[in-house]
Amino acid sequence: METNLTKQNIQFHDLHATRSDFLGDVLSGLRKRPASIPPKYFYDAKGSQLFDAITELPEYYPTRTEIGILNANAAEIARHVGTGSLLVEPGGGSCAKVHILLEGLQPCAYVPMDISKDHLRLAAKELAAAYPWLEIHAACTDFTQQMEMPPSAPGGTRVAFFPGSSIGNFKPQDAIVFLNSIAELVGTGGYLLIGVDLKKDRAILQAAYDDAAGITAQFNLNLLAHINRELNADFDLETWQHKALYNESKGRIEMHLISRREQTVTVDGQSFHFSQGEGIHTENSYKYTVDEFNALAAQAGFQSDACWLDDNSLFSVHLYRVQGG
Ligand code: AVJ
Repeated sequence: METNLTKQNIQFHDLHATRSDFLGDVLSGLRKRPASIPPKYFYDAKGSQLFDAITELPEYYPTRTEIGILNANAAEIARHVGTGSLLVEPGGGSCAKVHILLEGLQPCAYVPMDISKDHLRLAAKELAAAYPWLEIHAACTDFTQQMEMPPSAPGGTRVAFFPGSSIGNFKPQDAIVFLNSIAELVGTGGYLLIGVDLKKDRAILQAAYDDAAGITAQFNLNLLAHINRELNADFDLETWQHKALYNESKGRIEMHLISRREQTVTVDGQSFHFSQGEGIHTENSYKYTVDEFNALAAQAGFQSDACWLDDNSLFSVHLYRVQGG
């Protein structure tokens, strides 16, 4: 683990997954039929930039809607949680939403955790400059694998902030396991403030994941460029097509990359055959009603404290508390 003091109020910890994790995940995913690759590998530097561009698209309502909900309710959130807590953000690589909470919450420290190292480093530095009073412990980590607190993080009521409906990437059973690890991380009496995308009209959902400008398509295809660069692979991006669909019975958006022709791809010396029209499943994004998500969170030990929606009921922000044991 690398720990270096880059600025007075910021520390950087590297607990990053290795290239061999990436290779192992990709090889085992491509051996499966249908083939699949975990969505966490979208986020190389280019992928993180493309995702930021997605959040500005007219069709992609989640980010701006959630920011609206957080802004409208920041004072009430602070009344529930109180000040002086230790604020943890798994996947908080861009530190983009936490500033909405900082003035009200006045946390004793902020711990963003993200797999995208440079993105995290840059964003944490900017935040440290903007909030000189705030102690920051940035941890470069794959939060889907480990959820340890950096050793130097101070005490206080722990609050996990998990915005953006990132929870939607997990299958419901895996979401319970993950939420349970958050419950363990924050402990009894700790809080979880989580953004969850709501079920809604199929056309709105599909447009959000298949935008007219083709940014989501670039984001999806960039996964193959990331694999080519890091894992000595030869995906020809021209021969793969972005596909997004709402699978209503499973309550999820699915993203796939579809092979435009029959082909063989090599990754780190291993060959994988794809017929024309065959796909690689690259992402699930589950959508929940408020009641469905409350039931899921309850299975991980969380009790609902409050829930806020936007006026059009597009998106939900839940505040949960770990029940006393
Ligand atoms: C970051 C997982 C919340 O599911 O909406 C956006 C990722 N993928 N467009 C989502 C994503 C395509 C996003 N999450």
